[in-house]
Amino acid sequence: MKDGKFLTLAFESSCDETSIAVIADGREILSNVISSQIDIHTKFGGVVPEIASRHHLQNIDWVYAQALEEAGVTIDDIDLVGVTYGPGLIGALLVGVAYAKAVAWAKDIPLVGVNHMQGHISANYIEHKDLEPPFMGLVVSGGHTNIIKVTDYNKCDIIGQTLDDAIGEAYDKVARVIGLGYPGGPKIDRVAKQGNPEAIEFKRVYMDKDSYDFSYSGIKTAVINHVHQLKQSGTEIDEKLQADIAASFQQAVLDVVVDKTMMACEKEKENHPGEKLKLAMAGGVASNSRLREMLQARCDQEGIELVIPSPVLCTDNGAMIGCAAYYLYKAGVSSDLDLDANSKLEF
Ligand code: KG4
Ligand code: ZN
Repeated sequence: MKDGKFLTLAFESSCDETSIAVIADGREILSNVISSQIDIHTKFGGVVPEIASRHHLQNIDWVYAQALEEAGVTIDDIDLVGVTYGPGLIGALLVGVAYAKAVAWAKDIPLVGVNHMQGHISANYIEHKDLEPPFMGLVVSGGHTNIIKVTDYNKCDIIGQTLDDAIGEAYDKVARVIGLGYPGGPKIDRVAKQGNPEAIEFKRVYMDKDSYDFSYSGIKTAVINHVHQLKQSGTEIDEKLQADIAASFQQAVLDVVVDKTMMACEKEKENHPGEKLKLAMAGGVASNSRLREMLQARCDQEGIELVIPSPVLCTDNGAMIGCAAYYLYKAGVSSDLDLDANSKLEF
């Protein structure tokens, strides 16, 4: 405790960001240090798991020291340690979990293991101080594409999910195919702004009309085939073509995500007539500028309140884990020191 505030120290190391944060009373960021390995993995065209774990090991000491220093606290002020224990890359997760357990044990501080996806949703509570469950959610990341109903701080019902790749994975693969490289999502986001979203008619994959599920393998193959045909006909994929493919792919994918999310929201509205529905977005792809724009326009039209974290809280960070850990602990959840990383932890 410091100045009467309950302090959570939170660790996130599930992929290629080593991040440690100090959170006061669950929703206030005192520090949120993020050490990204993007430059390192760019050389390889994607995250190399073994290299990611090694860099987590190299960075975690200074990230820890800086998180406490920036927050203006010492480890003796900390009331709770939170840590992502899955899903993610096993070797990367283990670094955060081992470190968090060591700190919790050495200082006799309660420990809470956090599901990374729960963390993404919790990012919304940090900047939207009056947001409380229940609300609808759209979780779009490198590993997930889900329409959910958040029923409590640490509980949600899954309404729709991807049947193959996640949306972020599709962005990353398409970026590679058209020569943009890693990290694909932010690059497509930027390049697509210069392109024509109607240049190429990629099929919108709605699956069953009433279903809330998604599929991305088809569009990925369609882009690969398109690029292949261009190359065979001797067409060079210059910047203009790159931008058109990026914009057309993005529009096809986002049309479906936005339509299905709105469909689920309309259904939920019918169950609660007269109430203002809230929709929260989460995950790395939630930082996509076109998606934010499209969803905001539709929500305005339908009278739905849309909440989205700032881009820095959409991608992986310790602050969101601290917020989720706080609400878990308040609900009576804590973890033993035998907490283990689980790379395939379910939502
Ligand atoms: O949530 P996140 O940081 O890590 C996971 O939990 O997966 O999400 C990473 C994913 C990557 O696929 C990345 O390409 C995508 O989010 N992403 C974006 C943008 N920023 C990150 N996709 C589209 N537009 C963006 N601006
Ligand atoms: Zn994530």
